[in-house]
Amino acid sequence: MLLSLTKLEPCLVCIGLVLALGDSVEGAIHRRKDTKGSQWWENTIVYQIYPRSFKDSNNDGTGDLKGIESELDYFVDLGIETIWLSPIFKSPMKDFGYDISDFNDIDPIFGTMKDFKDLLQGVHERGMKLILDLVPNHSSDEHEWFKKSLRKEEPYTDYYTWRDPSGFDENGEPIPPNNWVSVFRFSMWQWEEKRQQFYLHQFVPGQPDLNYRNPAVQKEMENVIRFWLELGVDGFRQDAVAHIWEDDQFLDEPLSGKPNTNADDYAHYQHIYTTNLPETRDVLKNFFNVFKEVGEADGYPRVTMLEVWGDPAEQLKYYNCSNFPFNFGFLLLENLSDPTKILATIDNVLNSIPKELTKNWILGNHDRWRVSNRGLNDPLIDAFNILTLGLPGVTVTYYGEELGMTNNMNISFENTVDPSGCNCGSDLYLTEFCSRDPERTPMQWNNQVNAGFNNGAKPWLPINSNADELNVESQRYDSPSSHWNNYRIMANLKRSHPAFASGEAQTQLDGNVLAVARTSEVDPDSVFVILINFVNTDEEVDILGDFHSSKSEATVVLGTLGKNGHDIGDVLQLSSFVLRPFETVVLQY
Ligand code: GLC
Repeated sequence: MLLSLTKLEPCLVCIGLVLALGDSVEGAIHRRKDTKGSQWWENTIVYQIYPRSFKDSNNDGTGDLKGIESELDYFVDLGIETIWLSPIFKSPMKDFGYDISDFNDIDPIFGTMKDFKDLLQGVHERGMKLILDLVPNHSSDEHEWFKKSLRKEEPYTDYYTWRDPSGFDENGEPIPPNNWVSVFRFSMWQWEEKRQQFYLHQFVPGQPDLNYRNPAVQKEMENVIRFWLELGVDGFRQDAVAHIWEDDQFLDEPLSGKPNTNADDYAHYQHIYTTNLPETRDVLKNFFNVFKEVGEADGYPRVTMLEVWGDPAEQLKYYNCSNFPFNFGFLLLENLSDPTKILATIDNVLNSIPKELTKNWILGNHDRWRVSNRGLNDPLIDAFNILTLGLPGVTVTYYGEELGMTNNMNISFENTVDPSGCNCGSDLYLTEFCSRDPERTPMQWNNQVNAGFNNGAKPWLPINSNADELNVESQRYDSPSSHWNNYRIMANLKRSHPAFASGEAQTQLDGNVLAVARTSEVDPDSVFVILINFVNTDEEVDILGDFHSSKSEATVVLGTLGKNGHDIGDVLQLSSFVLRPFETVVLQY
């Protein structure tokens, strides 16, 4: 069955900124030049905003740019350096903005181009950076290119991948060209009466795949990149890039043999003809050149980071066509409570990615369950925020993770809007990898109406019922050792010590206690060690003589339990101290 999701409906119905490029130009945005020898992104703290869910300034139920602008000081206080916005471009919202009908304009639901320029200016004035989300693999089926391609209007005829049916069934229905199945289930092929052909879509049918065999398509996307970078944007996260190229033999994909899957499931197949083909990286290299060109022309280097799912060996292939591919190691772990798996995940990256390449650490995003719903006891949420901030390279934090926000699992199938959840059906929609609504619910600002997300209009997804207790206001002001405050302290440590900026990392697991040490040639007298107790019992620690240090005592610079454990300023004997259940401490010595 080919399932078409044509409307955003619940399941059952289913700068003056052009001038902003130099300090000397009047009205220019203030941006810091990088210090010699390093680039601003190499150690930056990136905060991912899902714009529909962050802050709704006009009380229409959906978050917007003005809402984000009104909270810019929040990021400064928390220690964030770079903000990444999930797509804000014109879109019919069949995949909530990842289906774009105009790559060069803002969707009215989020605001106007002026709102965007104001936001960019506000970000830069605070010394921060702003990154957008580029979706090069596909457009919306409402994009002009697609409409013209459907009508075979030149030069758009081959902007997308069109194929004839492989035959017709006994009812005269066209049969898709092969067995390819889309990421969100069901055939990757959608029939178009008008053209009497199928078009390819690796995600929902409203996201036809662009055909990068056509050089004109490549140029179009390069122009999109240039447009935003020249407006002053600091870079892009590039979406779903592994899907950019498909094999042109269009052979059936082999079965994966994975249990509990059926012919409609993406996991049922090995995607050897539709993902991670080498030509993808040629396309990305051309994009990367645009980033470099624009950065060299105006003296403000831009960043590009890639959404690629794979182990470090796979990630390595993408370093020559981007600044860095995302490292989803922690997201790929079903359960985060096993320290041996955490150690292996960290070591795999540290040992596989050479020192000179930028590493990165991600805990959550808009496609995966929140960290609190992946097997963690509450105090360990801090451990993971601290790890992602404390390991070498870039930290990427999904909105709300600084509070330990949890999935909202109280969303009925009738109220589910995510196409992936809808396609999974009413029995399975709330299982991991199906509906992504639970991790996308509105940011919890305070215990007022709609958790401070807006002034009372029904939010596009329901507010989590724990918002009265779990919110920014309560954590920021009422509790010195809250998740929020622990995050802020660690972000500050990362920003202010060379050991975190440029140093090496060493790991060690002793029983249930994981240690990560950071040292620096620039400041050899300062060693930082993160120690995490993964279990619900007191654990004795002896790290005397470890991490090439001859010191015998250390000062606590962060203790996640505050007064109930080791508090900031406590001095510990390295030969013997006890970590409280699920406690994390950061020591300096
Ligand atoms: C990426 C995005 C996801 C989106 C998909 C299609 O994986 O992160 O949210 O649905 O691409 O654009």
